[in-house]
This record gives sequence, C-alpha cells and structure tokens, in this order.
Amino acid sequence: SATPAFDLLLFGGTGDLAMRKLIPALWQAAAASQLHADGRIVALGRKPFDAAGYRVWLSEHARPLIGTPVDDASWNAFLARVDYLPLDACRPEDFALLAAKLPAVEKRVLVAYLATSPELFAPICESLAAVGLDHENARVVLEKPLGHDLASANAINDAVLAHFREGQVYRIDHYLGKESVQNLMAIRFGNVLFEPLWRREWVEHVEITIAEDLGVEGRGEFYNQTGALRDMVQNHLLQLLCIVAMEPPASMGADAIRDEKLKVVTSLRRFRARDVETKTVRGQYAAGSVHGAPVPAYREEAHVADDSRTETYVALKAEIDNWRWADVPFYLRTGKRLAERVAEIVIHFRDVPHALLPTAPGGIAANRLVIHLQPEENIRLHVLAKAPGDSMELQSAALELDFTKRFAARRADAYERLLLDAIRGNLALFMRRDEGVEAWRWVEPILEAWEADPAPPAPYPAGSWGPAAASRLLYENRHAWHEEC
Ligand code: BG6
Repeated sequence: SATPAFDLLLFGGTGDLAMRKLIPALWQAAAASQLHADGRIVALGRKPFDAAGYRVWLSEHARPLIGTPVDDASWNAFLARVDYLPLDACRPEDFALLAAKLPAVEKRVLVAYLATSPELFAPICESLAAVGLDHENARVVLEKPLGHDLASANAINDAVLAHFREGQVYRIDHYLGKESVQNLMAIRFGNVLFEPLWRREWVEHVEITIAEDLGVEGRGEFYNQTGALRDMVQNHLLQLLCIVAMEPPASMGADAIRDEKLKVVTSLRRFRARDVETKTVRGQYAAGSVHGAPVPAYREEAHVADDSRTETYVALKAEIDNWRWADVPFYLRTGKRLAERVAEIVIHFRDVPHALLPTAPGGIAANRLVIHLQPEENIRLHVLAKAPGDSMELQSAALELDFTKRFAARRADAYERLLLDAIRGNLALFMRRDEGVEAWRWVEPILEAWEADPAPPAPYPAGSWGPAAASRLLYENRHAWHEEC
C-alpha cells in the first residue's frame, strides 16, 4: 500500500549514495505505486543547482544506475516530485529557507535522510530543530558509519537525541533491509523444523561470510581511515550474527526484536589483548587477479599510503556466553578483493551420535544448512543419502530452495524497503542506540590491540580467499571454512 503524504529531505543529495542507491530506490518505489501521490523529495547539497538543474543531474547520474529499464514517462513523473535547494549544513540561515519551502509541515510526515559524513549529523539536527522541523511527525535517518569508536558514537547519539526522541531516529544498516536477511527470520521463526536444533546441543559451529570481489572503488580516503572491522564487522556482520543467534522475540514489534538482538550483543564474550592475537586475523590485499583480470594491491589504490596498515580483511572467532550458544564458535569473516562476491551463513550441525553407515570417500559427514544471502538467494540443507551401488555408503546431497525461482515477484532493494519503512514509521529494521553502542564496545578492544601491534596485516593475493591464517583460526577446532570443506 502507498505511504502517507510526506516530505523527504535528502541531505547529501548530489552524493554517491544518493545517485547509486537512494534515488534509484525512490524511483522503484514510485514506479511500483508505493509512494503517496503527494510525496515530495527535496534534495539538499552544496552544488548551486535550481530544481531544473538538479533534475538534469539526476537524469545524467542516477537514471543510468537504475538496474531495470526506465521509461521516459515514469522518469518524468518521478522528477516532478523532486525539488532542490542549495544548502550548507553548517549555515543555520539556510535552514530557514528550507522550512519556508515546506508548507503545513506539522501535518505531514517529514523524513530527513542524512546521507552525509557523520560530523554533519549534529549541526543538521540542531538546525532542523531551530526552524521547527523536529515536530512529532519528523524523523531522521542516519547513514553509517555512526562514529569511529565508542566515544564518537556516543557523542553523535547525544547530539542527535538532544533534538529528537529515540523513536524518531532511524539508524541504517542496509543489510537489515535485504529480502534475504528478513527471510532468515522467516525461516527461523516460521518453521518448526529448525528451531529445536538451533542450539549448542545440535550445532557444532556457525560461519558468517560477507565476501566482496570489489576493491575500495574510489573510496580510498574514507576506507583507509575505516578498515573492514569498522566498515563491515561492527554493523553488517554483527547484525547477521544477532539474527542467527537471537531468541524468538515476543512479537515482531521494533523493540521486541531489538531487545533480543541487544541481548546477543551483550552476551558476546569480550576480547582480551591475548585473545585478539589468537582469535582474530586481519589481512590486506596484495596485487593479484580477480575473475582473471589483474588488479593492483590495496597500497597502490588512490589516497592510500604505500605503508598503510588498514585491514581490508577480517576473520574472527566470536563466542556467545549464554545458555543457547555456550562453546559454539561463530566464525565471522569479510574482505575486499576476494575470489567472489558472496554473503552466506553456514550452520554446521553435529555428527550423528553413532555412525552406523560409512561415508563415501571425500564425503562430508555432518548436516549443514547453507543460507546464501547474495548474489544468489537460496537455502541448501545438506543431508546424507545412500550413494547408488551395491554397498551402503553415504554421500552428501542438498535439498534446495531457490527464492528467485520459487517467488517470481520483484524483490525490492534494501534501500527501497528501508526508505519506505522510514516514511511509514516502522523502526523494526533500524538499529537502536544501545545495539550500536554495545557493538562498538565489543569491537573496541580489537581495534586497540591492532593499533598497539607493530605487525602489519597479513597480505593476501587479490582474488584469493584471504590470508592462510584465517584457515588456521578454524583448524585448531578441526573446523574449516565452507569452501574448504
Ligand atoms: C557498505 C560498506 O556498508 O556495504 C561497503 O561501506 C561495502 O564497503 C557494502 O561494499 C557492501 O554492501 P552490499 O549490499 O553490496 O553487500
């Protein structure tokens, strides 16, 4: 169903995220009749456009990035919703001009999407409040990264919450908007089959991987100050871990879900300095070749120093100290310039208590549930079956559910779903302050230990699966990454 009438203020309106993700998502939502006819988008940025000039900019920079064919009629109808105002986020007087553009604001939903650097979150919120754009129907959407460490995340949250209630703050983690990630919850809580086994008695270990084949793609300056732990682990990987590990929530209400995720993050065992040495691996890509094409080393990327110590790869062993998961390792890994782009979760079940039947040579003995989140969306349950022949030998075979084959309907991009949720006022797929803060508290000892360690990250060739140390991390428990099984 369509959203209520709204004004969406798009700060960072000419930026990369707006062109690559936000405008395409809004167009898709409009084309699918999801946006109220009276839903307006006011983009804000420092470029001195008028509305007509900005629309030309969008036609040149955003339209080609929409994944599906865009006909002129729907594109022009979309552009008719779009306005632009040049605005300097640090000049409060510019916000008076903005407020003057928005008639009868109190009655309409107002969504201020801050697709800017986090230093601007505080001044923008303060100036919005100063001109009355902090009313009951107003919301702010905060893009990641929300800070650089625990202290900066707290400072940003304090500054935003000086003007908006927690219930008006939508902290984005776009992984939560992915269909496949929501499906993970559906699979867990919609079926009786998995839940009884979803615990330490039956699960041996869990793997969560977000591998990328891309490098830093012109974001060298940002990335070099950030690194994979802050860019991916503190948020996306921990959110996936929470959804895999959380208890069934009391309802699908935003706080019921977020309460359960918070319990998982607070139950994560804290790393001491010596654990960081034994339970984490950081890597940095060297020159290599990805899908057969040669690519340069990270240190040769633009805006990256040739002695950079920024990690482009992290693997770690997380442990959850609670009744359900005690002693079950959760192996997390992510990296840039790996062999392929794949996000997957693998639940490795325990061996049968007594092996009555032999397994064929090279066969894997235990059951595994492999949940592919992207690029393909499918679930494979590996079971053992009899290999044809006159002996009774077991071989692994998979029961497979392929979502794109099974469900023909269009699958919305994560940003489309999250933008619609923000306009409709649904917080369930956004992070609450305490979740984000606890996640920072957990990663901080790792950041500190790495900082203090004179050794550089382990080099790995671009196009590989990361440093060899990542395999050793699992091997001491006689585990192996999925592709090595
Ligand atoms: C972003 C990171 O949050 O997620 C990027 O900043 C990363 O470095 C991206 O490439 C990955 O998202 P997706 O949806 O392409 O897996």
